[in-house]
Amino acid sequence: HYLTLYSSFNHIEEEIFNRYGVKTHIVRGNSDLDEMVKAEMGNVTAELLEQSLYDHASVSVTGGSTMARVSESLHPLDKDILFTPARGGLGENVVFQANTICASMANRTGGSYKVLYVPDQVSESSYETLLKEPAVIEVLDAIRRSDFIIHGIGDALKMAERRKTSEEVLSQLKHHHAVGEAFGYYFNDKGEVVHRVKTIGLQLEDLTTKTNIFAVAGGTSKAEAIKAYLEIAPKNTILITDEGAAKAIINLE
Ligand code: G3H
Repeated sequence: HYLTLYSSFNHIEEEIFNRYGVKTHIVRGNSDLDEMVKAEMGNVTAELLEQSLYDHASVSVTGGSTMARVSESLHPLDKDILFTPARGGLGENVVFQANTICASMANRTGGSYKVLYVPDQVSESSYETLLKEPAVIEVLDAIRRSDFIIHGIGDALKMAERRKTSEEVLSQLKHHHAVGEAFGYYFNDKGEVVHRVKTIGLQLEDLTTKTNIFAVAGGTSKAEAIKAYLEIAPKNTILITDEGAAKAIINLE
């Protein structure tokens, strides 16, 4: 049920599909330079999602400013939708946390949501204890069973800095040439995972069983990151991006 919205970038969308096997929607402009372009990516994603959602579907979401834009574009729905945060405790500022975005998506659509209370820094023993908490188990279960995933993709070092990552991890990311990040996983340009934030929730391998995955990221500055992610993106992913990123992706070596 792939939806075709009007796009003047058919040839670039085709090129990306031919290279990576991933369907793409490209909006005009470069969100690095114009915040309205990010809002437009949010609109397109919200439209695609709303058209695919069905009663009692569940949606798992990540955090970030792009996801916040998706949430702002959602409308009240006459369907009962459950929103869950894909992963907990990535170190984001509260406005960018998956918990916050998922609550706001539920409020916009009239759906319900579950919150994952996992601190950013937990010792091994508290971590094990947390995983035994019935409330945590219940949310993890809902995350794994989610029908839809919506996630952002970030530039690796920018994300690490934004999340106040330790110097040790930062230098490890640099050493391994991390370029992209999604779900708390950091990738090199071949799409190999070079670091993962220790937290609970959706694991990369869980994506393969999902039928509806929307990856939303734009801006020329994210081209390398998006390209790295495309290397390993499940083929059931739909990428919503902008002209700035898309043109740079197909021009990168
Ligand atoms: O994982 C990726 C980040 O959440 C992307 O954040 O949308 O603010 O660039 P952003």
